[in-house]
Amino acid sequence: MSDRMQHAGRPVISATGLFTPEDSISNAELVASFNDYVRRENARNAAGIEAGEVEALTESSVEFIEKASGIKARHVMTKAPVLDPEIMAPRWDERGNDELSVLAEIGVKAARQALERAGRDAADVDAVLCAASNMERPYPAMAIEIQQALGIDGFGFDMNVACSSATFGIQTAADYIRAGNARSVLVVSPEITSGHLNWRDRDSHFIFGDVATAVLVEDAALAPAEHWEILGTKLKTVFSNNIRNNFGFLNRASPEGVGAADKLFVQEGRKVFKEVVPMVAQMILDEADRLDIDPQGLRRLWLHQANAGMNRLIAHRVLGHEANDDESPTVLDTYGNTSSAGSIIAFHLHSGDLAPGDTGLICSFGAGYSAGTVFVRKAG
Ligand code: COA
Repeated sequence: MSDRMQHAGRPVISATGLFTPEDSISNAELVASFNDYVRRENARNAAGIEAGEVEALTESSVEFIEKASGIKARHVMTKAPVLDPEIMAPRWDERGNDELSVLAEIGVKAARQALERAGRDAADVDAVLCAASNMERPYPAMAIEIQQALGIDGFGFDMNVACSSATFGIQTAADYIRAGNARSVLVVSPEITSGHLNWRDRDSHFIFGDVATAVLVEDAALAPAEHWEILGTKLKTVFSNNIRNNFGFLNRASPEGVGAADKLFVQEGRKVFKEVVPMVAQMILDEADRLDIDPQGLRRLWLHQANAGMNRLIAHRVLGHEANDDESPTVLDTYGNTSSAGSIIAFHLHSGDLAPGDTGLICSFGAGYSAGTVFVRKAG
């Protein structure tokens, strides 16, 4: 942090990083555990169900999950407790204040990979933004812990815009560079979504997975020869209760506090689908127009990974035809919905084959509602 930051810069993506937890849960394993829970719960409530006082729970199905979402598996930090029908939540020993917290640990792993790929020394990074839907605690900021673990002399802070956290982080980082307030910014998105998912809710128990991503946004003058120019960024929010989580420190003491269904992820999936698809498609087309980019000429779309059907529709509206896997790659099948990290995983895993001059779009959307676009062009 110093005299290096004086001149307005041109922001680019120098590199990305990805941390994937070893544990993975297939739909078959997930449904077996869920249905075991349903049978135990219905047995426990047999008298009430018989008397018509309690509604019997219904079993989940592998076929439904894959058809409705495109998800076949998801990675999680802790598989055994999630699949244990008596627990159905992630569990680990609470760490002491002098130990690296779990979120910081996986964020650091993704960040180190991004730094390594860019050939960047952590000492030359100016700021860390921890941009994610699920922070482990209110403070000190996760970003500052990540900053310290990496040995970065600068500043860091957390930002939460749910599924759009990473693209909002990229625009924030890009703005620091445009303004000359920083030349190298790490946007880290550790997403332990297994903690906010209600694994006992049939409508959504299959949705999420855990992961961490990192994006190194830098001034072009500093970046490695092979990088991605940021052609333009655009953010949008529109208030909606259709994806909501009421967890917070103001309600933890109430009888309906921690553990109650509304203190976890809740959504009206159909409404989300219907409202978000047109909003995002239009936003992409408007932004492409503003940047004078022909949307049909986009080489690849790295879309938010929530639902294969949503991505199919958005890609069709943007490209003007049914997109194939090469034009709109999915990571939903193996990662599930990883909240803000989804479009970054897709970009990380499916951008190496593009040629200099190729143009693409990183796009997120989700709770808020929130949506973000980052148009990029490969340089090098
Ligand atoms: N197994 C079997 N059937 C199930 C089921 C399960 N796990 N969950 C729901 N169903 C059934 C319902 O009972 C319902 O049956 P009915 O029509 O006979 O009443 C039917 O499937 C439709 O349920 P619905 O919840 O409307 O499913 P859907 O086809 O809309 O798919 C989502 C659900 C959540 C996958 C889908 O709406 C979605 O992905 N929406 C967008 C989500 C999103 O982007 N969220 C952002 C999160 S960050």
